[in-house]
Amino acid sequence: MDNLPKGTLVNLKDLSIEEIIEILDTAEEFLAGKRVDLSDKLVANLFFEPSTRTRYSFEAAESRLGCQVLSFAKEASSMLKGESFYDTVKTFSQYVDAIIIRHSEDNYYEELIGKIPVPLINGGDGCGNHPTQSLLDLLTIRQEFGKFEGLKIVIVGDISHSRVAHTNTEVMRRLGMEVFLSAPPEFQDDEEDYVDLDEIIGEVDIVMLLRIQFERHQDKLNMSMEEYHRRYGLTLERYEKMQDHAIIMHPAPVNRGLEIDDSLVECEKSRIFKQMKNGMYIRMAVLYRALTKGDENDSY
Ligand code: CP
Repeated sequence: MDNLPKGTLVNLKDLSIEEIIEILDTAEEFLAGKRVDLSDKLVANLFFEPSTRTRYSFEAAESRLGCQVLSFAKEASSMLKGESFYDTVKTFSQYVDAIIIRHSEDNYYEELIGKIPVPLINGGDGCGNHPTQSLLDLLTIRQEFGKFEGLKIVIVGDISHSRVAHTNTEVMRRLGMEVFLSAPPEFQDDEEDYVDLDEIIGEVDIVMLLRIQFERHQDKLNMSMEEYHRRYGLTLERYEKMQDHAIIMHPAPVNRGLEIDDSLVECEKSRIFKQMKNGMYIRMAVLYRALTKGDENDSY
């Protein structure tokens, strides 16, 4: 998108492959010990929806970069006096150098685009997009396989309510990966084709499970939890069908025993906690890009 503050990241579709690879490379540099001092920068974390990984890995990233942080609590803000979302964000944009927002509304950022003077980083919008989650997923995949082209992934579960599935499907196909989706009919997006998990699990390099997002739909699952686990979950039986080199991913939080057998969450093939750690380095890279882009003597 044109005319936005440099370093804005609301949707990975707005980044070229080269820009995505540059962020992954910067995250690797931070992982390897790169140090910077951004103590003159102030960042606001505006979380309008619960979060553990995104919120606190951003806070950890901000801390490691030396940034100062304003954390927002809606219940202690003037939103309780009727102030709008737009006016709240616009107010913060007068104080800080970058803003991170998570919100339950798809595309919440559209009313902000072009209206706030500092970079906006999307920490997840409803069922829409989760760009920093996809970047950390890509970092984890590249660390494992050293490439994207030709890799096969099956993403399984609540596809239609998953911002992670939506962002990953687009960017992974752009990177040359073969993306298969498996989901019960009630969790399928109309425009996609779906596969039987049992027919594909022995062929893929990556099995990515998704949490059923009960907070976004009431009683939409047309089967018991036990039946869902048996038909769509990563059971011990399905685990045995995975290729030797294949890995398990999940954006988390995990419903242990529902989309994945409890004992597999931390098994040898699982990269679930590695994804979380990579999230901190990716968010350092995304913040570094937002806070230094355009600065003299900086590669961004
Ligand atoms: N994966 C993820 O976004 O987790 P949180 O909802 O805990 O941030």
